[in-house]
Amino acid sequence: MENGHNRVALVTGAASGIGRATALAFAATGASVMLADIDTDGGEETRALIRDQGGNAAFMRVDVAVDAEVAAMVAATVEQFGRLDWAFNNAGIEGVVSSIVDYPEEVFDRVSAVNIKGVWLCMRHEIPVMIEQGGGAIVNTSSIAGLGGNPHVIAYTASKHAVIGMTKSAALACAADNIRVNAVCPGIIQTPMIERLTVEAFTREGFDAVQPIGRRGEPEEVAATVVWLCSDAASLVTGIIMPVDGGASAGSRSTTR
Ligand code: NAI
Repeated sequence: MENGHNRVALVTGAASGIGRATALAFAATGASVMLADIDTDGGEETRALIRDQGGNAAFMRVDVAVDAEVAAMVAATVEQFGRLDWAFNNAGIEGVVSSIVDYPEEVFDRVSAVNIKGVWLCMRHEIPVMIEQGGGAIVNTSSIAGLGGNPHVIAYTASKHAVIGMTKSAALACAADNIRVNAVCPGIIQTPMIERLTVEAFTREGFDAVQPIGRRGEPEEVAATVVWLCSDAASLVTGIIMPVDGGASAGSRSTTR
């Protein structure tokens, strides 16, 4: 396992699901972890879980769609832990399940603000710190919804495609500064978000059938990929969009019935 002693990680969306599992995985390498989320109770729970496993973490309530809060999050990470090596820009919302015609404009705007602008704001404040200290690694969370169309979640699908464009752009911009920028595209991962999405357009059985591997993914499986992408073992890897989806994106299966 990567030795994260003297390393500092930042995780957004750390109160739940994939973010929580990744925060725990970063902490297990020995890294100090700044946990950021809009959900204070869940964030404090993650902090307690890390403390229970002997790790070092702090929690900060942050809305990633608000520039001043993101700036404060990165500043607090450096102030508290001295540096920023690994950033996992993972906070995201699903919006609603709706036809393209009926999709509510205010929900489209909020999904865009959190999933697109939030990732950009994180990178814009993380990159200068990493340049200053001589390098770092960033992983953004896209989705299999970033790799193909989906008629039921137009804003979410658009936002996850946007994460891929931003990731590739940032990888090019930062390569000469020794900052690697990659994205993960989780498939169907058993988290509270997937439970919320199990409504009419997405049946439980439909979700179960998406991944050729024959089962859903666990948040820990995405976490392990993120830790690897940040690790020195991935030193030549930048600008890649990595599915973590049990083969879903290799075929033509649909996430909808
Ligand atoms: P989740 O709902 O369990 O966790 C998301 C976390 O983000 C929550 O703790 C929530 O409070 C936080 N969050 C939401 N808005 C925020 C904001 N404005 N500022 C800060 N924090 C905010 O969901 P899950 O499944 O862990 O999702 C994590 C990421 O993975 C998301 O970007 C999601 O789109 C993506 N993803 C999830 C998949 C899945 O199957 N669960 C599949 C593909 C992508």
